[in-house]
Formats: sequence, structure tokens, C-alpha cells
Amino acid sequence: MREILFQMDGKDVKAAEGTSVLSAARSAGIHIPTLCHDDRLEPYGACRLCTVELEARGGKRFVAACLYPVEQGLVVRTRSERIDRIRKLILELLLAHAPCSPQLEDLSREYGADRDRFEKEAQFCIHCGLCVRYCAEVKKKNAVGFVERGITKAIGFVPEVASVECNGCKECFPLCPTSYLQAAFVLTEALAFPPDPKG
Ligand code: SF4
Ligand code: FES
Repeated sequence: MREILFQMDGKDVKAAEGTSVLSAARSAGIHIPTLCHDDRLEPYGACRLCTVELEARGGKRFVAACLYPVEQGLVVRTRSERIDRIRKLILELLLAHAPCSPQLEDLSREYGADRDRFEKEAQFCIHCGLCVRYCAEVKKKNAVGFVERGITKAIGFVPEVASVECNGCKECFPLCPTSYLQAAFVLTEALAFPPDPKG
């Protein structure tokens, strides 16, 4: 596979063609924060916390590092005043949904995010899809999925599948960036109160 040469934070970096900027950064020992990424899963691009700045062909733009493949001669910055401002805003928006998440709190301290900037609409789920995608892509069970859309979007377990598969697994619980108990609660509820098939 072709090797791509580019620059990241002033360092010369090499990566195989097709590698994402995020993977190349990690291999080069450069930290980029993420909330919806897991190396075992297909990139999803939901949280945008991994936003980095690119310079190529005389222009600058901001992209999600987990989705963007490295390019020859690219100049990448993983931290700058503008990047920090973008991450701060993302964290402030997410904190309105998941105000008690220790992971969001740690990141907020780092980026100076104001946890009270936006009115709270606590649902705990930030729609990162890690639990849903892990169950589908790694476990191949599809026991958990998203229900509803827009602001009321949330995870839901399929009781018929969950009652057979989940008790011995629960591998999605620790993946959740907002609360281990979020998935546990939804699972317990789904098993205790399965929907009435007659509607
Ligand atoms: S419950 Fe947690 S892991 Fe699942 S989509 Fe929501 S935030 Fe992500
Ligand atoms: S980690 Fe890249 S968009 Fe979430």
C-alpha cells in the first residue's frame, strides 16, 4: 500500500494510504479527543469532537479526524484557538443532554466549557451510537438500536433479543461516554416492561 507523507502539529508523519487522520495521529503519539470512535467499529462521525484543521492546496478547513483520510502533503493542526473553540461549543451542547457524564466533565475542564451555557434537556444519551454499533458490528446481535428521531431520539433494547443475549454480555455498558447506567437502565426497563405485541 502506498505510503503518504504529511505534517501534523509540525511533525513529519507517514501513514498508509486510506488511514484516517485520527489513526495516523494516534500512531504518531498525538492525542485527539473523541466521543464516538472505537477502533473496532466503522467510523461514524457523530460527535465532531475530533475536529482538526487542515491546510491543503492553499485552503484551510475543519474536518472530523476519524473520517478524513490522510493525503500527500497535507498540513494538519490538532490544536489551535479555533479548534478549542469548536470543541468547547460541542461540549457545552452535549453537557445540556448529559450533565452528569464524568467523561464530558473531564473534557470540559480541559476546554473551559461552561456546563450551564445551554438549557438542560437531560436525556443522558448523546447519540454517539457506540452501544448500538458495537452490538450490530461486533456482536452481530442488534439487541439495541435507536428509537424515535430528533430531540427525542434514544436507545432502546429489543426485548425478544435482549432477553436471550444481553444478560451474559453487557459489553456495550462501559462503552457509553455518558453513563454506564444509562444502557443498564434502558435494558432493565425493556425486559421488565416489554411492549404489548397487540399494541
Ligand atoms: S446510550 Fe451511551 S453509548 Fe449508547 S448511543 Fe447513547 S451515549 Fe452512546
Ligand atoms: S470521534 Fe470523530 S466525529 Fe466523533
